[in-house]
Amino acid sequence: MSWKRKIKNLQKKDNIMSVTTLSQVLKQGKEELKRSDIPKYALDAEVILSGVLSASREYLFVHPEKELSVQDRDVFFADIKKRKQGTPLAYIIGYKQFYGFDFYVNKEVLIPRPETELIIDSIAEHKRNPSVFTKNTALLDMGTGSGCLVVTSALKFNALVKEYFAVDICQKALKISYKNANKHNVSHCIKFLHGNLMEPIFFNIKEFLCYENLIITANLPYLTEEQYKKAPSIWKEPSFALLGGEYGLDLYKDFIHQLKLFKTRTNLSLALFLEIDPGQKNRVTGIINSEFPGCLLDFKKDIRGKTKIAIVRF
Ligand SMILES: C[S@@+](CC[C@H](N)C(=O)[O-])C[C@H]1O[C@@H](n2cnc3c(N)ncnc32)[C@H](O)[C@@H]1O
Repeated sequence: MSWKRKIKNLQKKDNIMSVTTLSQVLKQGKEELKRSDIPKYALDAEVILSGVLSASREYLFVHPEKELSVQDRDVFFADIKKRKQGTPLAYIIGYKQFYGFDFYVNKEVLIPRPETELIIDSIAEHKRNPSVFTKNTALLDMGTGSGCLVVTSALKFNALVKEYFAVDICQKALKISYKNANKHNVSHCIKFLHGNLMEPIFFNIKEFLCYENLIITANLPYLTEEQYKKAPSIWKEPSFALLGGEYGLDLYKDFIHQLKLFKTRTNLSLALFLEIDPGQKNRVTGIINSEFPGCLLDFKKDIRGKTKIAIVRF
């Protein structure tokens, strides 16, 4: 390290050492994030500090003169540094809200997105539809990640669904989804299966023969390489949770094909709720119609009017 850099680092340390109260620390944290062009710099600094103190954001404003311990201050500035380097806020504080519930997240799982909540809304709209919910309904969440979809479904549709299944190819993601199911007291009704798409389901196919209906939620990776390259804000999230090959639809293509085999073997009524990219609507229609001619196919738009969810019944 050059002597100029050493002096700069010492000066920086001196600066940090001189701020000790909540309001001073917060002010400095906000300034650092602002200088690094972090869009919601003030909110992020507040959330990070309240996370470090395990306190509410209100606490920071009610006790501005409170002194921070050296340890807490060091953790806060280390977190601010991570945020400046582009680590998403959810990974720093370790959780993200989805449908009003808190979910643990770490770098092994995709951070749940607000638009994915549309899948839960769409299922809820079919609550009284006998081709989706009967007395004998199970739910499968393919590519469960943090478990936000399966856990929220278990919390919302508890009495309407007999059993839940969650599949992911990533063992570490499954651990997080299990942890989230435990946090929300629904792990007893969810089976966590490790494997590639429907493979673990085919392996356990007998378990499905007692059901009439299967609801399937899937937010499989659907981005193209080009979309991924243009979005630096997602580069800290696992690429295997985002990239879907050419046109982004490789996984959905394989999945829909496997579902056709599943339908042949079980004869269950399937209701499929898929998150897609708005630009994929025509290709998704083509894939679904070629495997399930005559199926019922609807699309749901997000609040910006973009098609985000495909709903398929067959
Ligand atoms: C876009 S993330 C969605 C996570 C979560 N369902 C959500 O909505 O936030 C996609 C998930 O699919 C999983 N995945 C990717 N390829 C898979 C495969 N071949 N079989 C099963 N899961 C897969 C990834 O590990 C990741 O957890």
